[in-house]
Amino acid sequence: MERKLVLGDDEIPKEWYNILPDLPKPLPPPIDPETRSPVSPAKLERVFAKELLKQEMSMERWIPIPEEVREVYALWRPTPLYRAIGLERYLKTPAKIYYKFEGVSPPGSHKPNTAVAQAYYNMKEGQERLTTETGAGQWGSALAFGCMLFNLKCTVYMVKVSYNQKPYRKTMMQTWGAEVIPSPSERTNSGRNVLKNDPKNPGSLGIAISEAVEDAVTHEGTKYSLGSVLNHVLMHQTVQGLEAKKQLEMLDEYPDVVAGCVGGGSSFSGLFWPFYYDKVMRKAEKDTEFIATEPMACPTLTKGIYTYDHGDTARLTPLLAMYTVGSDFIPPPIHAGGLRYHGDAPTLCLLAKEGLIKAIAYDQVSIFEAATTFARTEGIIPAPEPSHTIRYVIDEALKCKRTGEKKTILFNLCGHGHFDMHAYDEFLAGKLLKWEYPEGAIKDSIEKLKRLYPWIEELPYLR
Ligand SMILES: Cc1ncc(COP(=O)(O)O)c(C=O)c1O
Repeated sequence: MERKLVLGDDEIPKEWYNILPDLPKPLPPPIDPETRSPVSPAKLERVFAKELLKQEMSMERWIPIPEEVREVYALWRPTPLYRAIGLERYLKTPAKIYYKFEGVSPPGSHKPNTAVAQAYYNMKEGQERLTTETGAGQWGSALAFGCMLFNLKCTVYMVKVSYNQKPYRKTMMQTWGAEVIPSPSERTNSGRNVLKNDPKNPGSLGIAISEAVEDAVTHEGTKYSLGSVLNHVLMHQTVQGLEAKKQLEMLDEYPDVVAGCVGGGSSFSGLFWPFYYDKVMRKAEKDTEFIATEPMACPTLTKGIYTYDHGDTARLTPLLAMYTVGSDFIPPPIHAGGLRYHGDAPTLCLLAKEGLIKAIAYDQVSIFEAATTFARTEGIIPAPEPSHTIRYVIDEALKCKRTGEKKTILFNLCGHGHFDMHAYDEFLAGKLLKWEYPEGAIKDSIEKLKRLYPWIEELPYLR
């Protein structure tokens, strides 16, 4: 039985797959709250590189990957596909479990698949610096790495609670030459406003995004870079699914289920989009299911409301059509750092609304139980984010054991947990609490949004 399948460098995909032409309905456009109309591309050009905006709206199904980007990808791509033999034997399941391991990249997750591409296009367009936010530190590390490779400066606004909890993520970014600022900070109006009202504010991704965007639009030669949610970001991640498909083909396998965790939706989309293409456009033989996993402490897809909301707390970003728990969401102190974002990618939300993907939420104690089982059977210590998916995979494999079903399950192990030892420590000491976000807080936040923009309900795009 093959335990690990590795491809050669020449098998790194030459094109990314863009889902936009294959969505079941046109994607609702980002809305400018001032004009109540779709945002003008000129306004977005102040924030993002031109080529990335072109990709954001492109209806081309296949977008060529520049050779310079493929050359950098070759540092860690193609990533290995593993068969979880140890876990299967431990569970005594008839299911076959495969995982695509993205933790082999230098920053330790899937995030450099887009960070490298974004740094490349910004360099080509003559930018000198990129700004961004980071929660748990994975995205900031990836962008620091990408900028370093293409000689760009990099400023990372890191959510203050993570900055204090994960000092080595900060050091990793600094080693690659980035400047790391705990957010909320005194650097920006958005940060100062938060600190004026709440000097001890622990920060959130929403606040850090506000700071990074403000920094970019107020400085020449500087653009902003986002690590999830947007179409072009998810598209850059499809190298994962395209490689996985080839690897499974070599084993004469095709998944019944493709599962991944969702913070903003990039790792999961990067894995499942190419299988969605098979299912919807090429009428694949198998009716593959797509399963998104998320924390009960930030239940965007399972309990959020589908509406237009800002991507940040200071309301600097356009309004995006998505499931949201409210842009004033302050993340609870759980350990799935990268999954604590109030919204999700509009493409993913549209697919969820149309019933093409299913979402399940888990509490943090049960995900660390799954993570520990995985570490003790497969050896790899997973990051807390993909451990949500491991919880699902274990439950599904046990269901197969009861029913005798021989499902083939593919999931995305999108990062290792080497910087998350504090969380493992708390779990092993029995200190982690189950935490569920109160539904009342979601309703209150959305009511507030509707009082601010009563016309949202009238927009034609949500129907
Ligand atoms: C390892 C890992 N997985 C998943 C995520 C969630 O983001 P996304 O849903 O865009 O993959 C993050 C975000 O920081 C992460 O670091």
